[in-house]
Amino acid sequence: MQPGIHPQVVFGNLKNPYVGDKTAAAAGRQLFLAYNCYGCHGGRAGGGMGPSLRDSTNTYGTSDAQLFATISEGRPAGMPAWGGRIPENQIWQIITYIRTLRTPQEPDRVQVARNEVPMTKR
Ligand code: HEC
Repeated sequence: MQPGIHPQVVFGNLKNPYVGDKTAAAAGRQLFLAYNCYGCHGGRAGGGMGPSLRDSTNTYGTSDAQLFATISEGRPAGMPAWGGRIPENQIWQIITYIRTLRTPQEPDRVQVARNEVPMTKR
């Protein structure tokens, strides 16, 4: 963490304006591709050079405020800081998308054929 930046304090009270908004989740899915998040986190956010965002064991927390802090400030082991490069409302759309992962609301979901064992990492 850089001196003077305390995301828990700075972002602690932020609220996602798009909670449960399907259009925002779909936009977030497109932004996840457009900003190349998938290049490090995998096409379905299942992990690559960066960690999976599909599981519930996120190192830096899964609350809206914690996700916002991670994306805007970056994290030391290779997560770039996007604050200033991605408008705030788009960061919230991406977070709305991340929240739909592994749920039936996930936009642009991979269809798994009947009788096929779903892949856990993709
Ligand atoms: C250059 C590769 C790279 C890109 C591009 C990238 N990330 Fe990351 N991301 C990482 C790495 C590596 C970590 C783990 C950082 C750490 O543990 O300190 C991470 C961590 C995260 C985390 C926290 C995961 C956890 O376990 O708490 C989130 C959320 C996240 N990234 C979202 C995004 C989003 C959204 C984008 C696109 C705007 C993005 N990342 C783009 C490499 C990347």
